[in-house]
Amino acid sequence: MIDYHKFFSSTLESIKLSGRYREFVNISRKAGEFPMATHVESGKEVTVWCSNDYVGMGQNFDVLNKIHEITYKTGSGAGGTRNLSGTNSEIVELEKTLAFLHNKNSALSFVCGYMANLASISTILSILGENACVFSDSKNHASMIEGIRHSKREKFIFKHNSLDHLEELLSSVPIDRPKLIVFESIYSMDGDIAPIEGICNLADKYSALTYIDEVHAVGMYGKKGGGISQLLGLENRIDIIQGTLAKAYGAIGGYIAGNEILIDAIRSLASGFIFTTALPPMISSASRCSVEHLINNDKERILHQKIVNEAKKSFRENGLPFIDHETHIIPLIIGDSFKCKEISKYLLDKHDIFIQSINYPTVPKGSERLRITPTPLHTEEMIKKLTYSLLDALYALDCKNLLQNMEVAI
Ligand SMILES: Cc1ncc(COP(=O)(O)O)c(C=O)c1O
Repeated sequence: MIDYHKFFSSTLESIKLSGRYREFVNISRKAGEFPMATHVESGKEVTVWCSNDYVGMGQNFDVLNKIHEITYKTGSGAGGTRNLSGTNSEIVELEKTLAFLHNKNSALSFVCGYMANLASISTILSILGENACVFSDSKNHASMIEGIRHSKREKFIFKHNSLDHLEELLSSVPIDRPKLIVFESIYSMDGDIAPIEGICNLADKYSALTYIDEVHAVGMYGKKGGGISQLLGLENRIDIIQGTLAKAYGAIGGYIAGNEILIDAIRSLASGFIFTTALPPMISSASRCSVEHLINNDKERILHQKIVNEAKKSFRENGLPFIDHETHIIPLIIGDSFKCKEISKYLLDKHDIFIQSINYPTVPKGSERLRITPTPLHTEEMIKKLTYSLLDALYALDCKNLLQNMEVAI
């Protein structure tokens, strides 16, 4: 007899041995008190420094009220897929708002950002035909990689953010072959920005379509919160803009925005859109409320940047080893999976601070890190405490070699 149990237990064992075993920290978020949360195991209050509720919209009162209002008006779920059970007005209005957000004439929502990427990229490539090929940044998110894999089209991986390498690859392919370039605006683990204009120039030169993932930028950058492509005035040069409703907009769901013919073709063919239940009306409506709020208000965006810069200043003055790519994502590189977990646990146990350790395969081995994401709701006092606590953790756990400036006082 085959011992099936052994397949799974030995897999887990090897994950544990390499320090990659994922342990979730059970926290209960508190509406109205973000970034505070309750650590369920100990019952104590902790400050969360690693949330992707980037600007705190997950507790905006208008958004919460919308959820209540629409839930009691329409019920809890969407009632089915849009093909089988009809669409709902809330989702239609959400898509109009998303198209407006990105200055495109159409948008399509998905159950999450992951599915938006998987379904859209694979469908676009399938529509472009068997001769199509795809050019993908080496640090693209797993959901984009899955979309490419599903398409079964020839792929060319260009070195992260390298225009030279992208051009070398593009020029190796006949000009009349259909091509798609897929990349992110802000890369989620390092917080660095793609050379968007250069990529658009190459796309024009080599006749390629462009697909940008703005998941870590929407809501936070650009006049309306349309992301980095909007901030740089480049959104009209991008064919498909993909985003999420789950991070800065504080809800759940993903989408693409672009030309109506292209979006309509994806709507008509994408398996990951057709064969799954639509976003519930209360989520669609709350998301729309959040997107509209950040279209019409700059307050969160301005305060967000201020707090991010204050946190970086404090880290810099104290020699903490972070990478600065001038975005809101602050990676503190530890470089060892066991140490990284140990520091995370120490911060939680001793200082009531929650920062998840990020290990391989999410980041390359040797670049394990704490990924810190300040929000407009973190205070100066919290930044001081975080800085002190990080220094204490590095000293206590024998990692002071990581400090870049030893003249620090703790
Ligand atoms: C770059 C990028 N794209 C897409 C996604 C998926 O988005 P969602 O969380 O809405 O599924 C993520 C998720 O974290 C991401 O980091």
